Amino acid sequence: MADAPPQDRIVEWLRASPDPLSGEELARRLGCSRAAVHKQVEALREAGWRIDARHAQGYLLLGAPDRLDSAALGPHLKGRWRRIVWFAETDSTQRVARDLAHDGAEEGTIVIAEAQSAGRGRLGRSWHSPPGTNLYCSIVLRPPLPPGGVPQLALVIGLAAADAVAAVAGLEVGLKWPNDVVLDGRKAAGILTEMEAEVERVHHVVAGLGVNVNAEAFPPELAATATSLRLAAGRPVDRAVLTAALLAAVERRYDRFVAEGFAPVRREWEQRSWLGGKEVRVASPEGELHGRVLGLDDEGALRLETPVGLRRVVAGEVTLPGAYAR
Ligand code: BTN
Repeated sequence: MADAPPQDRIVEWLRASPDPLSGEELARRLGCSRAAVHKQVEALREAGWRIDARHAQGYLLLGAPDRLDSAALGPHLKGRWRRIVWFAETDSTQRVARDLAHDGAEEGTIVIAEAQSAGRGRLGRSWHSPPGTNLYCSIVLRPPLPPGGVPQLALVIGLAAADAVAAVAGLEVGLKWPNDVVLDGRKAAGILTEMEAEVERVHHVVAGLGVNVNAEAFPPELAATATSLRLAAGRPVDRAVLTAALLAAVERRYDRFVAEGFAPVRREWEQRSWLGGKEVRVASPEGELHGRVLGLDDEGALRLETPVGLRRVVAGEVTLPGAYAR
């Protein structure tokens, strides 16, 4: 906290104080003049913080902007990943995080945007990214893994996303292989895991999470298949609380995966699976398959019982007759 920017520190102190804090007291804590405090408070107001200045009493925090920057997230963060790189809008947080990773960004660097002009989904699709209502976030990871371990990591992150959504929104959450988060049979979140690697060593992974948090409507092409936490829960969800829970869950599950491998994850993933026992169609690079989902194998591949025997699917798109396709 002592190293945090002055505006973050002011917000932290105001948040912690039920009574107004005087300009003099804030100046003392920051080691600056009252005029400098006034300037910082003005800047905070311009950024959307509602701060009342009470005559002869001081400053009182009335409300925070609905933004996911480090000042808003700071008080909610629980883990060690705290470097938030925030944008009102960017093309894609994946692109930004990849560039930061190239420049040596440390593990746990988090890129968040309020809107994306070119949000990217799996399989070359776009990701609907309207402003200020959802979560678009990418995390730089440097796992000590061979490239073959990264698909498992993607499943681990999906499980973490499901943990956070279930805990914060109080909803029953399903996972659709490889890692869509499903509420009421519709997609509420997606995960895009991209890496740069040599044959034996991963340089970095960028884990991108898109969560439909408070969206109330979707474009026609998504209307039948997408949902949000708000629509499923019937009430708005605090984005900062959700984001912090998500980051903590990803960090916790990531640490455990790096230390213990995939085996402990597999069972938990299968318990959350939305597909278990269902008849599905899979469009995979090897062609189309039909079969009943049995679960995951040790490597995170989908196990299918098909009319021509057991098959394992390492990549592809699963669809259920009568349910959403993407
Ligand atoms: C999917 O297709 O299900 C994956 C969607 C991933 C979307 C997120 S939003 C944050 C990050 N930035 C992007 O451009 N994509 C990911």
